[in-house]
Amino acid sequence: MAGISKAILLTQWLRELLKGEHIKGKNAIPINFEEDIVSKRTIAILFFSLMFILITGLGINALAQKDMPFGGSEDVLFANKLWTAMDGYEDWPMGSGVYPGASPHGKFLKLYYNMVHVEGTPYHIVVKDNFGGEDVTQEKVAESPGDYLAAVTIMLQRENGYDPDNNNWFWVKYGPDGKILKNPKGVALAGRVAKGTGQACISCHANAKGDDYLFTNDQ
Ligand code: HEC
Repeated sequence: MAGISKAILLTQWLRELLKGEHIKGKNAIPINFEEDIVSKRTIAILFFSLMFILITGLGINALAQKDMPFGGSEDVLFANKLWTAMDGYEDWPMGSGVYPGASPHGKFLKLYYNMVHVEGTPYHIVVKDNFGGEDVTQEKVAESPGDYLAAVTIMLQRENGYDPDNNNWFWVKYGPDGKILKNPKGVALAGRVAKGTGQACISCHANAKGDDYLFTNDQ
């Protein structure tokens, strides 16, 4: 970690400075005691501020981003690019009609399959439109889907190594406008959602037959 080693160097440098070794050489002019205290305090404040900025800004933040199973900046960036790449998915030839669904997906659902290219790489994707609303019926959804679209949930198979424990699936829940939705803690629902928590996408889809995390091919 570049941030950490920089912080260590800074610590050593400031420790010397606090001891006064730079100032109190053999021929140095004696320093007024009170001034010395003030300068030490100033240096100490400066030191802790710098440490704080370095460690929170560079170190911990960078580490946290890497270890976050979902909602980190890389996952959010990928999900936003994906939304652009899947523009017009409603017209993909492989898909289902409107059919009844259940919680946590919508009262009515619609499925689409395809390959999409994100930054030139092709990926398999399954898109599920989740429809809801007080007066929702299958006919109304078929007639004007846009009025009842509550969320768009997708599973996209990423490259090997993205999430080997879970078939390398990338999960996203978008609002009808393509904005990535967030969980109650404010974490974006994009990436390995919510790996390790025993809740949400991965842990429920782990119950699908055939270990492929897909329910719709289970019959
Ligand atoms: C409590 C269980 C549960 C949770 C949580 C859940 N799903 Fe599902 N999901 C299902 C079931 C059941 C189906 C099959 C429904 C159907 O189409 O008949 C399904 C279907 C899907 C499909 C269609 C592909 C397939 O065959 O499985 C996608 C895509 C999908 N879910 C995405 C998500 C995403 C993204 C999340 C998290 C934001 C999520 N799901 C959370 C149960 C769940």
